[in-house]
Amino acid sequence: MTSATAVAGTNIALVKYWGKRDEALNLPATGSLSLTLDRLGTRTRVAFDGGTGTRDRVTLDGAPADPKVSARVSAFLDRVRARAGIDRAATVVTDNSVPTASGLASSASGFAALALAATRAAGLDLPPAELSALARLGSGSAARSIFGGFVEMARGARADGSDAIAHPLEAEPRDPWEVRLIVAITAAGAKAIGSTAAMTHTARTSPFYAAWIAGVDADLAAARSAIAGRDLGALGVVAERSALRMHATAMAADPPIVYWNPATIAALARVRALRDESPATPAFFTIDAGPHVKVLCGAADAERVAAALAGVPGVLRTLIAAPGPGARIAEAA
Ligand code: PMV
Repeated sequence: MTSATAVAGTNIALVKYWGKRDEALNLPATGSLSLTLDRLGTRTRVAFDGGTGTRDRVTLDGAPADPKVSARVSAFLDRVRARAGIDRAATVVTDNSVPTASGLASSASGFAALALAATRAAGLDLPPAELSALARLGSGSAARSIFGGFVEMARGARADGSDAIAHPLEAEPRDPWEVRLIVAITAAGAKAIGSTAAMTHTARTSPFYAAWIAGVDADLAAARSAIAGRDLGALGVVAERSALRMHATAMAADPPIVYWNPATIAALARVRALRDESPATPAFFTIDAGPHVKVLCGAADAERVAAALAGVPGVLRTLIAAPGPGARIAEAA
């Protein structure tokens, strides 16, 4: 096989990953826990067809990718080529289901889809755990998008990163937990500072970094047991705590990293108000390396939560996502 197409959904961490124990191998300083979504995904086709003749040709959302993106994709393909024993350049065509510049398009779904498409196109058929370790080399969060539903990423202990892999927490449950994640978009445009640079800067300069790292295992244990017991309130408490601690740690960096805008804060207040209203709507926020707010709630409350968030000044758009499957082959040629 010389070409393959894969699709992957993004994932949103409920227990955040924010810090690396090894920058070269992209090994996380802690574990993390996420929900893979059915929306906000990536479709990627890879063909080892010689590319431009000497170099990989990378098209992102219909246009030639900028040199930084191309270099990151080529570095990733180099690992796949080395493993497969091939040296041909590739053509990569990748499309995100939201515009890349929206600040929502995610490296998680991108590198998960690239890992699967590139390995298959190179003639490799890696088991999911190995795909997860490979995707991690592109982006830490991508290791989680190899799997569907609730997923835990292990910190791992080995220096080579072979145990820094993700695994699904519920292997294809017969009656999946009907949660929803509402995305409230609060700004147009890409994020101000990328996650790798921000994590590294936080680790080097934030006096809160050690405390942040020390608290993650307890959050993971609490989230795991909340998911096992399908306790939305317990999971929501952990998700909010993890997101606020991650952001507090970054805000304490020197100079500070502040991802929020006024609509971010207004959306948090609206989520809290939903819980305080009568009847109460159980809904819980999380925030990634950007100003958007993502809200976890039950499927039956999704429309109401989305409408409440749409009414928040500064919220530009909302969308409702459900749990989705892991990375998969869409077609092969
Ligand atoms: O793996 P990256 O570089 O996409 O970083 C992910 C960082 C957060 O989204 C903020 C947290 C997470 O665990 O996904």
